[in-house]
Parts: sequence; structure tokens; C-alpha cells
Amino acid sequence: MNAQAEMHHPANTEGISPGVGTVQARDVSHTFEASGIGPTIALSKTSLEVRPGEFVAMVGPSGCGKTTLLNAFAGLVIPSDGEVLVNGSPVAGISLDVGYMFARDGLMPWRTALDNVAFGLEVRGMAKGERDDTAAGYLQLVGLGDFLHHRRQELSQGMRQRVALARTLATSPRIILMDEPFAALDAQTKLEVQDEFLKIWEQHKRTVVFVTHDIVEAITMADRIIVFSRRPGRIVGEFINHLPRPRSASALRHDQTFEQLRHDISSCLTAHSTVQKT
Ligand SMILES: Nc1ncnc2c1ncn2[C@@H]1O[C@H](COP(=O)(O)OP(=O)(O)OP(=O)(O)O)[C@@H](O)[C@H]1O
Ligand SMILES: [Mg+2]
Repeated sequence: MNAQAEMHHPANTEGISPGVGTVQARDVSHTFEASGIGPTIALSKTSLEVRPGEFVAMVGPSGCGKTTLLNAFAGLVIPSDGEVLVNGSPVAGISLDVGYMFARDGLMPWRTALDNVAFGLEVRGMAKGERDDTAAGYLQLVGLGDFLHHRRQELSQGMRQRVALARTLATSPRIILMDEPFAALDAQTKLEVQDEFLKIWEQHKRTVVFVTHDIVEAITMADRIIVFSRRPGRIVGEFINHLPRPRSASALRHDQTFEQLRHDISSCLTAHSTVQKT
């Protein structure tokens, strides 16, 4: 199946300012000029448009520039060429309207789970009582209502990632960037956290750009899956995922559409992953 032929219809954004919730890359290329080792072309002429409330997953070989592109959306990398726009405006530094979650939990070990989740709200000037209530609510949502006062070392890896997820959600970012957020989890915990996140996302429908090496995860979560070639990364495939929602990570595994999509994405990825022999 070549899903690239499918048309994308703009979401109904009536009443919302134009561009709010969108993430766009226009002809973005990026070369790292690291001293001593010469330039590395990470990304080549990549164009992508993510609609408000859309869940897009990006898959591709290691080193093809996925993190670089997320960093460009987050304002952490200024692309050497092309343009990135978030909420309809060119990215100029880090935006408070964008949440970013990594594979590493990045929790502050001296802070409790509650204080980690409340941190972003504190930075935004929310009063203590209100931010603690909000943070506790999000921790409950990810199943950690009994662990508000535990510190990082007192939490399992799965729990730490759940705290990181609650921290990302707590500031209600309109756009959520996720870089292999569940990669460090064991298979069972991964299924549980995927389901929790899906449930939350289905209620709030934030724009999500999600990087993963796990095709099954991409199909479970996303509306659209983008496949990148080996470095320098460029988009070589785009697959629309018509699986109905709400979805459940564990229930989907036996679905025929799911299996077909997994096969198609996997073939596309393999065809563009291997190093060409000249
Ligand atoms: N700060 C940097 N300085 C120099 N080169 C870099 C830097 N960050 C990334 N690169 C290079 O850019 C290329 C793309 O890196 P990037 O982290 O975006 O890949 P990725 O697709 O996220 O890979 P992975 O799946 O392994 O996380 C790699 O070749 C990497 O070596
Ligand atoms: Mg990466």
C-alpha cells in the first residue's frame, strides 16, 4: 500500500486562531558542524505538516535526524536550512506551549514526584496550593496517586516515566513532542503506559509528534506514521492509520488492518535503512 497518495483534510479548527496547534517543517535540512570530525548532514529537505490534535509518529533508522527535527520544533536546534513553525509562527526559542518528553525521565532526584510534576507550573507562576492540586490530579491520572511524595530513587523505571508523562501533561501544552518516551520500559509496563497515554490523549486531543523505533507502538498510537530514510534523513513514506479509536494497545495486536500496516511500514523502513553499496 502506498498511503502517500492519500489526501489530508484539515481538521475543524473553527474559532481557533489560524495555526494554533500546528507543527510544520518546510524544506528543513540540518548539518552539524562539530569541530574535528567534519560536518554531519543529519536531515535533508524535510517537509511535514501536523494538524491541530493530530497524533503523528516518526520512525526511521538510528541517526537519521528524528531527534534533530524534534529539537528544531522545540527551539533547541536552529536548522541550517528551511523553516520550522509551531502554532503557525516561526520557532524562535523554547516555547511554554510545547511539552517535550524524552526516553530518560529527567526527574530531579531531590524533588518528590509531586514537586517534579508541579515544577512547570511553578515556573509559570501558579500558586502553591493550585499547582499541588493540579500535579496530584495528573499523577492520579497516570496511576500514581499513592506515590505523590516518593522521590526518584524510590520509584521503578515505569513509575518514573509515568511521573515524566504527568509532568509533560500538567502544563497542558497544546503541542507535545515525545522522543522514544516509553523505550526504557519493559514490554508489559509499556503496554500499560501506552494505554494510559492513549486514554488521556483521546480526551484532550493535543497535537503529538512521537518518535519511536517500535512500529507496533507507532501504529497503536498514531493517526499517521512518517518513515524516514537512513541519514541524511528524508521522508520516504507516509501511512495513514485508519484503525478506529478508542484504541487499546493490547487488543489491537490481532487486528488484520494493524498487521497489514505493520508489514507495509516495516517493508518501507527496511528498503530505506540499509547503507547503499556503490
Ligand atoms: N550535537 C550534535 N553534534 C554533532 N552531530 C550531531 C549532534 N546531534 C546529532 N548529531 C548527528 O546528527 C545525526 C542525527 O542525529 P539524531 O540524534 O537526530 O538521530 P536520530 O534519528 O534521533 O537517531 P536515534 O534513533 O539513534 O535516536 C547523527 O549522525 C548524529 O551523530
Ligand atoms: Mg533520537
